[in-house]
Amino acid sequence: MKILLIGFGTVGQGLAELLLEKEAVLYRTYGINVQVTGIADFQKGSLYNTRGLDLKKVLAAVKNNGTLAALKNDIFDEDALALIKKAKADVLCEATYTDIKTAEPATSHIRTAFEQGMHVVTSNKGPLALYYHELLELARKKKLEFLFEGTVMSGTPVLNLIRETLTGSEIREIKGILNGTTNYILSLMEEGLSYEVVLKKAQELGYAEAIPDADVLGWDALAKVTILANTVFSARQKPFDYPCQGITQISAADIAAAKAQGKRFKLIGRVWKEGEAVKASVSPQQISLSHPLAGVMGASNALTISSDTLGDVTIIGPGAGRRETGFSMLIDLIHIGQRRH
Ligand SMILES: NC(=O)c1ccc[n+]([C@@H]2O[C@H](COP(=O)([O-])OP(=O)(O)OC[C@H]3O[C@@H](n4cnc5c(N)ncnc54)[C@H](OP(=O)(O)O)[C@@H]3O)[C@@H](O)[C@H]2O)c1
Repeated sequence: MKILLIGFGTVGQGLAELLLEKEAVLYRTYGINVQVTGIADFQKGSLYNTRGLDLKKVLAAVKNNGTLAALKNDIFDEDALALIKKAKADVLCEATYTDIKTAEPATSHIRTAFEQGMHVVTSNKGPLALYYHELLELARKKKLEFLFEGTVMSGTPVLNLIRETLTGSEIREIKGILNGTTNYILSLMEEGLSYEVVLKKAQELGYAEAIPDADVLGWDALAKVTILANTVFSARQKPFDYPCQGITQISAADIAAAKAQGKRFKLIGRVWKEGEAVKASVSPQQISLSHPLAGVMGASNALTISSDTLGDVTIIGPGAGRRETGFSMLIDLIHIGQRRH
């Protein structure tokens, strides 16, 4: 299986490391032999070799120099789109930045890959939140796979759980903690620290960005809620169609008052069915301490899935990380490999 890695940042490198680490298992257990034939990254540069790149050398080059320039024989001098058009690969792994207002450059990469007859695996929330149905239609017309496990809860396999394991169930509601940064901030505020102090600490630890809006205003959770609405409930909505409130208005006093009533603030993303309508929202809510979501602290994520067959099932796990999100793409690649067999 020849693959292209577009975007060689945290997740792209995490996937490359796992492909090396699991090379023997992939072949022995699943009969899959993965060859990365191309990599394109904005500043690190691009590589292409039809016989497969040496991932050990690629990872060492990025670690030592921050670029791919050391692999002189494999340099590809054009951009990602040119690589996707030129390379005769089987799968495009898209891991460039998420932009939930334009979904670019990822959507163009994905469209071009489908036009070239490639399956697509992505952890990028933008194309799923904005253009899911259009992209799925393109994939179906060409009989190609379009998999995106990493877009919600990174490698914690919630989309696979719903699609594969809960198959045959009617999903009525999905709700939970979809942003680790805000959950970390709310967890620490329970110790009596102010929002400003905890945000600064989260920024120092690398949990929050210098401009933390996407997390603290709820936009990241909103993108994931929209992905769930569109992919699980077949809605056709865009992120800002749904009400969204972040955590910036919550004070230490609000948190103490909730605690006195046996409750805890969580930023809750929720998607549910009301008759034929699909509703969704992101807002801070006071959860009873007896609910499984109340015990999810720090940077973890969790979702409670309510179905007609099982009632509530709660899945808790990492919602971000190099290895964790790289793993989400590995899951998708293995599924493609198995189905090709
Ligand atoms: N990190 C996580 O834990 C996590 C979890 C779930 C989902 N995701 C999603 O996964 C994707 C990747 O995340 P990440 O953490 O790996 O981000 P990242 O470290 O910022 O990496 C993104 C990479 O994409 C490259 N890039 C941007 N535009 C490009 C273009 N037009 N052509 C080629 N390369 C381009 C960037 O290049 P330069 O930096 O060289 O400019 C960068 O190396 C994002 O969409 C993110 O939302 C991440």
